[in-house]
Amino acid sequence: MINSKKKKVVLLQGGLGAEREVSLSTGKGFAQALTELGYPFEVVDCKEDFLEQISMAKKNGAEAALLALHGKYAEDGIVQGICEYIKLPYSGSGVFASALCMDKIATKEVLINHQIPTAKYEVVHKDSIVKYRPKIEVPLVVKPSREGSSFGVTIVKDEKELASALRHAAQYDSNILIEDFIDGMELTVPILDGKVLTPIEIVPKVDFYDYKNKYTAGRTEYIMPPRIDAKTMKHVQETALKAFQVCRLRTYGRIDFRMTKVADNENRAYVLEINTLPGCTPTSLLPKAARHENIDFNRLVEILVERAALDYQGVK
Ligand SMILES: Nc1ncnc2c1ncn2[C@@H]1O[C@H](COP(=O)(O)OP(=O)(O)O)[C@@H](O)[C@H]1O
Ligand SMILES: [Mg+2]
Repeated sequence: MINSKKKKVVLLQGGLGAEREVSLSTGKGFAQALTELGYPFEVVDCKEDFLEQISMAKKNGAEAALLALHGKYAEDGIVQGICEYIKLPYSGSGVFASALCMDKIATKEVLINHQIPTAKYEVVHKDSIVKYRPKIEVPLVVKPSREGSSFGVTIVKDEKELASALRHAAQYDSNILIEDFIDGMELTVPILDGKVLTPIEIVPKVDFYDYKNKYTAGRTEYIMPPRIDAKTMKHVQETALKAFQVCRLRTYGRIDFRMTKVADNENRAYVLEINTLPGCTPTSLLPKAARHENIDFNRLVEILVERAALDYQGVK
């Protein structure tokens, strides 16, 4: 039942980027939670007429935008900037953190500046890929700087595969990242409401954590808590929180890692990337980690709505 004391919400979903389908799945779950929680809400599918739709929602009394969006035009500060301009508080991180973390190259520069481990890397512009010979040796990873859901990512094991990997990444962004392949456990660390949740170990049954393995139930094994000792757990959680803070995220996020042994009793966790609008689909990891802490999906959505904010809130 609709509760008139609750904030009027506009649920933003869809979007223009490659992650549209993932967003619609996150949006479906959010809509169900809003209904069950009694929030009055309307849904906006963010297409070319987004500006008119969001202005209309604001005029109709929307008090918070709940972002079920991912990737380009959404996780990168663009939607956040529009909400800022019309003074409609929105869920998740602000304009700066969103733009920064969407760009994997810029994120690495900030992380390095704060002594947070990240894989060795090179950058090539898409106009220069034909003659490009990286200094990093195979195995290496090629990925677009600004994309998500593993679109455009290739693990290159043989130099012969390099040219097609670069062409593939170039379809998604003009700046391409070439990274050392970190051979070890994959982990992700969700953060919610200032609290580092239990990390999740990610074990795809075949190949790496690509789109298929991310969104098809049963293709990847998720182990929570991960098979790591207490010292490594502390290192990963502290690193995740530091990354969250230096990149100035708000309310929630998910930090992706790969880990390698650097000495007999020591592992080093390398940050792969930071997700400012992590997926909340039925197979997604942040809701899974929240459940582990007895925060059910409805409570998670309630936290996102209640913490909706503006960057310049409280200042002139
Ligand atoms: N440097 C790396 N070493 C090993 N595997 C990697 C590396 N970079 C990416 N991967 C693999 O590719 C997946 C997607 O890469 P990621 O950087 O998280 O981008 P996104 O999830 O935004 O597409 C990771 O989950 C991981 O399985
Ligand atoms: Mg990732």
